[in-house]
Amino acid sequence: MTGIVIAIDGPAGTGKSTVSREVARRLKLAYFDTGATYRVGTLYCLREGVDLSNEADVAAMVDTMNVELRLDPGNPRVILDDEDVSSLIRTDSVALSVSSIATNLEARNILGHMQRDVIAAELEGGFSEGRGIVAEGRDITTVIAPDAPVRILLTADEETRIARRSGEGADQATVREAVLGRDAKDSTVVNFHTAADGVHFIDTSDLTIDEVVAAVIKLAEEARA
Ligand code: DC
Repeated sequence: MTGIVIAIDGPAGTGKSTVSREVARRLKLAYFDTGATYRVGTLYCLREGVDLSNEADVAAMVDTMNVELRLDPGNPRVILDDEDVSSLIRTDSVALSVSSIATNLEARNILGHMQRDVIAAELEGGFSEGRGIVAEGRDITTVIAPDAPVRILLTADEETRIARRSGEGADQATVREAVLGRDAKDSTVVNFHTAADGVHFIDTSDLTIDEVVAAVIKLAEEARA
């Protein structure tokens, strides 16, 4: 028997990462933040001085970067060339540039392969010893793992999403751009606002994190029954 894949998509500020991580922790599954692959690709290109508007150069960099992902939901880590860059990929400079990578179709293709490989390897063993993985992003339910037994789209209204991100410490203008500007750009290449066939839709605007976690775990239990 192979492990379960729980695919969770949605825009920024829906509580997606917090929920995905907590679900993985409670079910003892691996936790895969696929956005981190776009972020580490961005950091690498910025460091190497690559012109982000040059799609082929960016794709070549992303193809050759040496990244290790640690999928423990209690301590997820992103390692680039032996350096732990887990905090660096969360900085404003990366957040404001990451859409260049996310809208580069060649880079998406390469990162998509990497993500499928990570999921497949985890089902064989890895952190969860094959029990499975929670993978979150923008196109996991539709492109990366469309056959996952549990597929969920999280949403929340705009003001709720901005308020949640502002609570994380950044200034308002940056948050507004990071949330809405990025979503608008990313929406040009992936649809993460409407649920595809068979994808469960959860509006988190009026729900606590615990309530969303409980809803996701219920769907996982139903899928396993
Ligand atoms: O979830 P996040 O903010 O860490 O995502 C970083 C960027 O990567 C964001 O611009 C959306 C993009 N992304 C994507 O296009 N597809 C994914 N599966 C995950 C993230």
